[in-house]
Amino acid sequence: MATGAVGLLLLVQAGPAEVRAQTAPQTDRGDRGGPSFQTSYECVACHNGLTTPTGENVSIGVNWRASMMAQSARDPYWQGAVRRETIDHPMHTAAIEDESRVVGTLPEQVPYLEWQHSAFREDQSCQACHMPAVTEPTPITSVVGEPRERLGRHTFLGGNFFMLRMLNRYRADLGVTVPPQELEAAARATERQLQTDTASVDITTTARTAAGIEFAVSVTSGVGHKLPTGYPSRRVWLHVTIRDASGRTVFESGAVAPDGAIAGNDNDADATVYERHYQEIRAADEVQIYESVMTDADGVVTTGLLRGARYVKDNRLLPRGFDKTTASDDIAVRGRADADPDFLAGGDRVRYVVDSPDAAGSLMIEAELRYQPIGYRWAQNLGEYDAVETKRFVSYYDATAAGSSLVLAHSSALVE
Ligand code: HEC
Ligand code: HEC
Repeated sequence: MATGAVGLLLLVQAGPAEVRAQTAPQTDRGDRGGPSFQTSYECVACHNGLTTPTGENVSIGVNWRASMMAQSARDPYWQGAVRRETIDHPMHTAAIEDESRVVGTLPEQVPYLEWQHSAFREDQSCQACHMPAVTEPTPITSVVGEPRERLGRHTFLGGNFFMLRMLNRYRADLGVTVPPQELEAAARATERQLQTDTASVDITTTARTAAGIEFAVSVTSGVGHKLPTGYPSRRVWLHVTIRDASGRTVFESGAVAPDGAIAGNDNDADATVYERHYQEIRAADEVQIYESVMTDADGVVTTGLLRGARYVKDNRLLPRGFDKTTASDDIAVRGRADADPDFLAGGDRVRYVVDSPDAAGSLMIEAELRYQPIGYRWAQNLGEYDAVETKRFVSYYDATAAGSSLVLAHSSALVE
């Protein structure tokens, strides 16, 4: 279980190694790994050149090399975040860089525990979604391989389409060797997974009132753990727009700017505060953001993993079957979502009560659920650190932020 804040660093840094290596003690390491820290070079000689009877290339090395897992040590965000931690905590630099010591104890990435507390533990494994199985018997090795049932594709798709594209764009700086078309294909496949079966939104109970309009937006998650899960820079939010018969926008909550910031999100405007969870939204500067927010020991909002002492907000969407009243501390709902009767297993429902007295005729409501792997604040806070890795990441983010989020699901309703 990833207990410490440093658990992240451990998890990610160990990414490029293969399964076997992770169970072995890390006694020595070289460029190509020591005897107990093998790299993928040791495996692809035999576990590549694999084709299904219908002709799909399911080579393990080829499938894997374009994954975020394979690229994790080159990830410029991760490099910037580790540099920041070593600047914040110079006493712990060796431990942070050597992943040898737990320095803190805030649960930072616990998808397994979230899944275990959900209905998915009964019917859908991690591999069912992250390593989708080949249906026809296929050899798992090109050397003496007999066709085997259920070869799991080693694509390991998660949510980070944005970083796959960033790695591709800055491939020369970052030493990325996987062919560009493979990284782009992995980014597209990640988008496809995010946009299929991940979530849906519905606009319900619409009513015109003397003052304007009221309706509810229901969000349903189909994911096997919280949505978003994993590293706390991930966020999902509702972008809701109302237009009048002439197309004029009479209300908008949650628009995203080209720099990656969400309009109305207090935390994007000011690093010391955050946007609370809502049962009801009445103003354009209120926005429903599903995210986790940490504070340090003094109660100050932070994106520093080792500074994080507790979560003051965790309203990430719960998976089907997740009972928030019996969830352990490590996976608890935090902040106002805990007492929100509409925030339950499998989704949330938010009421919008909007004044639009001057809007005549029909109104068009549009609701989008958006996902962003690296939120504005998580990126921009690195800019305060004067180091090559932090400055480099922020410059990449600034150049690519317009493509940092996508629509998971959307819905519209015309109200006469
Ligand atoms: C010299 C060729 C060769 C190399 C190199 C090699 N393997 Fe294998 N591997 C095989 C063969 C052969 C099998 C058995 C295939 C079968 O059962 O059909 C196998 C099976 C496996 C299995 C499945 C085990 C099971 O219980 O079904 C895994 C996992 C695996 N290898 C991982 C790795 C990893 C990780 C590496 C690199 C560290 C690696 N292999 C390197 C040839 C190789
Ligand atoms: C029903 C499908 C499904 C199941 C089951 C599932 N996942 Fe996921 N997983 C997803 C989707 C979709 C995403 C991207 C959206 C998100 O963050 O929730 C994701 C994201 C992740 C991420 C974050 C990746 C990123 O880029 O941020 C991790 C880590 C992860 N899953 C691990 C697991 C583990 C471990 C299990 C089993 C304990 C598991 N998943 C079970 C569908 C699934």
